[in-house]
Amino acid sequence: MTIHQHEVLIIGAGMAGLRAAIEANKVADVAVLTKIFPTRSHSGAAQGGMAGALGNLDDDNWEFHMFDTVKGSDYLGDQDAIEIMCREAPELVYELEHMGTPFSRTPEGKIAQRRFGGHTLNFGEKPALRANYSADYTGHVVLHCLYDQCVKNSVRFYSEFLVTYLIIKDNVCRGVVAWDIRHGGLHVFHAKAVMFGTGGYGRAWRITTNAFANTGDGLGVALTAGLPLEDMEFVQFHPTGLYKSGILMTEGARGEGGYLKNKDEERFMKRYAPNLMELGPRDLVSRSIQTEIIEGRGAQTPEQKSKGIPGDFVWLDVTHLGEAKLREVLPQIFDLSKNFVGVDPAKAPVPIQPTAHYSMGGIPVNAAGRVVCDAKNTEVRGLYAAGECACMSIHGANRLGCNSTLDATFHGRQTGRTIARDIGNLTYEDLPPEAAQEAQAQIDWYYKATGKENLYDIRGDLQDTMQKNLGIFREAKGLEAQLQILGELKKRFSNISLKDKSQEFNTELQEAIELGNLLSFAETIVVGALARQECRGAHWRTDHPARDDAKWLKHTLAYREEGKIRLDYKPVVITRFQPKERKY
Ligand code: FUM
Repeated sequence: MTIHQHEVLIIGAGMAGLRAAIEANKVADVAVLTKIFPTRSHSGAAQGGMAGALGNLDDDNWEFHMFDTVKGSDYLGDQDAIEIMCREAPELVYELEHMGTPFSRTPEGKIAQRRFGGHTLNFGEKPALRANYSADYTGHVVLHCLYDQCVKNSVRFYSEFLVTYLIIKDNVCRGVVAWDIRHGGLHVFHAKAVMFGTGGYGRAWRITTNAFANTGDGLGVALTAGLPLEDMEFVQFHPTGLYKSGILMTEGARGEGGYLKNKDEERFMKRYAPNLMELGPRDLVSRSIQTEIIEGRGAQTPEQKSKGIPGDFVWLDVTHLGEAKLREVLPQIFDLSKNFVGVDPAKAPVPIQPTAHYSMGGIPVNAAGRVVCDAKNTEVRGLYAAGECACMSIHGANRLGCNSTLDATFHGRQTGRTIARDIGNLTYEDLPPEAAQEAQAQIDWYYKATGKENLYDIRGDLQDTMQKNLGIFREAKGLEAQLQILGELKKRFSNISLKDKSQEFNTELQEAIELGNLLSFAETIVVGALARQECRGAHWRTDHPARDDAKWLKHTLAYREEGKIRLDYKPVVITRFQPKERKY
């Protein structure tokens, strides 16, 4: 097996990974490993903006941003970390501007800002202009800017390498083993510091905004390596995905003045968030849409109408904004709508439905970005995480729109700085020989397997059942059923075989490894959701229909032990804002 040595290894080349690489590369030898080419990372799909209280167009400030983030999190977010991020967000946005990110502009030439859900002025008074944007290509331009900076600074990239094994011994991280997708074969990467920036896992659901690559590989290998995952039951459904495909239609459309309407053309948000209307936080808006659908006010396709079938979507109406404005500030959703549902959004409302979008949970880290492995916050030496795969926890039970692009770049930078500070005290620790052996045995198993099950059928069944049982509304019956289904899917997975036995670009092997990861961490979501008998943020239990701070104002930690998930809990950090009832 080829062995590579780099002081710092960054796994994942989205916003978090690239921003961390720029920072750590100032003092250390850094390599970035990525499953796909860096600029194909899913960060590039972020549309509407990056939160940061610049106050270019109103009297915004970081304390309002902090309050909104805490309230939006349904008080589960750790306020020490939220405060640092919101306070430093404006400086981070200006830094990106100076690095070359082409933000849209106000008539005076300042960075343009738009409204986004749950972001308000004066502690909830009225919507704030806080999302710094580049039309609706914000993620795309930030990702390219960061990649340019990495190339300029000679960061080393290993593209198309899939990490399959995390090497931890005696609570010290020593590197990873990764599959070379292009040529085949495993490589060992020996490092003093490893950072995960591997993104989210929306592909566990059928309807999702997430790219095919978003299979939560970082979470899968972390769990297998004995680490816990934090707050996995909190999964965000974005309110406006294109009907059927789930492709993102940015919240920026509502930020620019778009309406949500039911089959009677009623702006139904007046019944759910009379103050903020369409700009309520995502958990609330998604639940409101789903409630309209459940109660028979969903819009219908012509076929549904003719057959008398209830509708299962609502309308996003931006016709009143006019074609010129749509082409200027929302060009991507203009094209997506035309190409994927055949609707010209300047002329007709667009059919949308909630879509699995973001994972609030992930690999537990402290405010410095160091991975912690228990409720006492014991650090794993040499291991770090940032961005969507990490749980700090900034977003608590529900993330506000535009706080993920901020989180990824801010904590990418911060964790890169932590690594730069730590690296002088870290050494190349011995590589345990069993690491390479176990990683090779895993790969050999796939090539030798002779079972009858088809992995794509298993993946489809996983996505359909997660959609049904772990959607916007949950209850014990569905969760218990899903736990059993996962057991059956895992049994079927142990009975697969690959049709493609080649080494080079074996996408079937890659998708089998990804499915193994999906099945592994999915159990932590279900077990955490079953245990948490309350409604908080994106976790809405119809059989326990209230928030219960006395019992559940705490973070979940899920470990895999002897094939089963064990749960533990740790306290939430509350500094400035005491939990209150959320009203919008
Ligand atoms: O709606 C959007 O543009 C998505 C933004 C986000 O997830 O933060």
